Amino acid sequence: MKIAVLPGDGIGTEIVAEAVKVLNVLDLPFEMETALVGGAAYEAHGHPLPDSTLKLAKEADAVLFGAVGDWKYDKLDRPLRPEQAILGLRKNLGLFANFRPAICYEELVGASSLKPELISGLDILIIRELTGDIYFGQPRGRRTAVDGHFPGTEEAFDTMRYSKPEIERIAHVAFQAARKRSKKVTSVDKANVLETFQFWKDVVTEVHAQYPDVELQHMYVDNAAMQLVKAPKAFDVVVTGNMFGDILSDEASMLTGSIGMLPSASLNSSNQGLYEPSHGSAPDIAGKNIANPLATILSAAMMLRFSLNQPEAANRIETAVKTVLASGLRTADIWSEGTTKVNTQQMGAAVVAAITKTTKG
Ligand code: IPM
Ligand code: MG
Repeated sequence: MKIAVLPGDGIGTEIVAEAVKVLNVLDLPFEMETALVGGAAYEAHGHPLPDSTLKLAKEADAVLFGAVGDWKYDKLDRPLRPEQAILGLRKNLGLFANFRPAICYEELVGASSLKPELISGLDILIIRELTGDIYFGQPRGRRTAVDGHFPGTEEAFDTMRYSKPEIERIAHVAFQAARKRSKKVTSVDKANVLETFQFWKDVVTEVHAQYPDVELQHMYVDNAAMQLVKAPKAFDVVVTGNMFGDILSDEASMLTGSIGMLPSASLNSSNQGLYEPSHGSAPDIAGKNIANPLATILSAAMMLRFSLNQPEAANRIETAVKTVLASGLRTADIWSEGTTKVNTQQMGAAVVAAITKTTKG
């Protein structure tokens, strides 16, 4: 089992280090190789996704990814910015299916900005299409407008597009995921305005014919954004395009009050995957040993389950995280009165200790 470890920038290096400690204590035959990515790779090699890093990622069974980005790179040409590393990995590895669970841990119900009764027991799975849509659609660029409201002036444009097979495959992923949960899918679109998303809706409906046991609901993205804060527990599996999924998954993660807890998985058609926390590189708290490593540790658990076929090891990590939370340990982002504040390394060590304890019975 070969794992490419790409810590990246900001808190990425600190949180990935803890996840690696957790993986090491499982006593499984992993081969882990670390490489630079994002701003760190740009500094060292002049490119956010060097060929050597891409090669390592392609050859691995799974990629454990930290986070990339820092404001100091905002002035670089777009192809050299750290974000291009994650976009490049998604594109080059064909990671079209992005799983972003938003789970509210009972111990952390008070951390949400929503009323506890609205989010207690929340367990949503956002499935975001990750390699198409306006993120990757061509053509894009800047030019002098020949028509529109102000012909003759400078304009910029991107292209929103989806092919039928792209929609079909993500729809299958969503319906199959729903079968393992409460058999309900909400497909989010903007069919009332956009041709691309009328097509999305039509294709999802067509694929649904193969899953008569799963309930399918369609919802416009603006309404979905509203329903997510009004009655989030009404959702189970949400499937949507790349752009809407980017926005709604951030919204959903905040419902739980603890983005530092949420893992994510991005898979291709051969179940090779990239696993990363749902949060970013948080340059403001980088190097302080205060970031929450649990989202990355839980991403490692998803990696074991989805790409490395080690469901038991995944369970051990997830159980250990629950044990640690139940014992009252909290990093600063999820700390509240009456709990014990710990730093990044202490949190990682606590998870390691909880795993070792269960191993020894
Ligand atoms: C995410 C991030 C990325 C995205 C950025 C960093 C390119 O926001 O993974 O949600 O927009 O997809
Ligand atoms: Mg995002």
